[in-house]
Amino acid sequence: MITIKKIVVIYWSGTGNTEQMAEAVVQGIKSQEDVSVDLVAVGSASKQHVAEAHAIAFGCPSMGDEVLEESEMEPFVKSLAAEDVSGKPLALFGSYGWGEGQWMRDWEDRMKGLGAKLVAEGLILQEVPQEDGLSRCRELGEKLVQA
Ligand SMILES: Cc1cc2nc3c(=O)[nH]c(=O)nc-3n(C[C@H](O)[C@H](O)[C@H](O)COP(=O)(O)O)c2cc1C
Repeated sequence: MITIKKIVVIYWSGTGNTEQMAEAVVQGIKSQEDVSVDLVAVGSASKQHVAEAHAIAFGCPSMGDEVLEESEMEPFVKSLAAEDVSGKPLALFGSYGWGEGQWMRDWEDRMKGLGAKLVAEGLILQEVPQEDGLSRCRELGEKLVQA
């Protein structure tokens, strides 16, 4: 029997850079067999999306001072408990401007603390993604399915 892996990509993006990354992650996921994928802006996401997924990708740029976006993404991430993500393959990604990626390292630590299985280091790209960066996003999507 074929099992379809259900995957969800949940993201926040202010100026579209992380959204472009999310779309490329989805392309990578769709390039694999026997998957279904939902791309959901975090404002429309619920914990149910996470609970039902076999594997998850979250995307958010560096905002504030090296933190997650505070009105939608941070409350969503904060609402997650170990029971929601423990043992699940997870990919993190996001765009940044001038920092050194501290927001992503902190985010990785939080998600590992909840028991999520990070399939790769958080993928960070500076400002507007270029073709090589988008290709790394597609690879991340492939890896998420294969995990
Ligand atoms: C209010 C605000 C705060 C930001 N804070 C940071 C920061 O702390 N570190 C950083 O590297 N970039 C920071 N940036 C830059 C964004 O991360 C960068 O422009 C990113 O490409 C935006 O992604 P998006 O198009 O998905 O919204 C900030 C941008 C804004 C608008």
